[in-house]
Amino acid sequence: MGIWRDRLWPSLCHKAMQAARHERHRASSVVRAQGRVLEIGFGTGLNLAHYPASVTHVTGIEPNPGLRKLAVRTMHEYEFPVTLLDMNAERLLFDEGEFDTVVSTWTLCSIRDLDRALAETRRVLKPGGEFIFFEHGLAPDPDLQKWQRRISRVTKHIFDGCTIDRQIADRVAAAGLEIVTLNNFFAEGVPRSEGYIYAGAARKRI
Ligand SMILES: C[S@@+](CC[C@H](N)C(=O)[O-])C[C@H]1O[C@@H](n2cnc3c(N)ncnc32)[C@H](O)[C@@H]1O
Repeated sequence: MGIWRDRLWPSLCHKAMQAARHERHRASSVVRAQGRVLEIGFGTGLNLAHYPASVTHVTGIEPNPGLRKLAVRTMHEYEFPVTLLDMNAERLLFDEGEFDTVVSTWTLCSIRDLDRALAETRRVLKPGGEFIFFEHGLAPDPDLQKWQRRISRVTKHIFDGCTIDRQIADRVAAAGLEIVTLNNFFAEGVPRSEGYIYAGAARKRI
């Protein structure tokens, strides 16, 4: 652990993720959440303000100690209880079918073993439960994809693993989760190489 990952990166990440332009995307994504929710890559808890009343408990997992430290400042302000744990999405220490909803926003780009994390997501969801995601990833245009692959080689070293060349929807579907809604678009206010969005939900079949 260095000063960059533990101290500087968490502050920078919190500032960037707090941007006003993200708020409506957070709100429109997590509005589908209900019951017991697991949020992978909890960050500083910026989705908490947007959960609907149908949510009874939020468990956040966050491996970065600096981000956890910033998160605890705000996580007691909500109607529902919030639990924050030091855990990686690749190895979820929960029972099968423990959650009604799993949420991931701007996180699948950074998880080292994404396929393993998605398999774990599926395992901890109840049958019929939903995985809600709002992520950036691989754009459809082959020329842009070339740039995304080049840029990812650099960003993953600087921004704590963040890549921009993952085909998110295909990876979610390959994990055995059935995509029930998917919206792809370029986010406003960011370069096209970093702003191709996959916003959707996928269900664990009953
Ligand atoms: C860009 S931040 C997004 C934070 C938050 N989800 C949000 O919307 O503000 C990416 C997050 O993924 C987390 N992350 C990276 N690798 C992870 C892993 N293997 N398991 C769980 N979270 C991880 C990071 O620590 C960070 O909190």
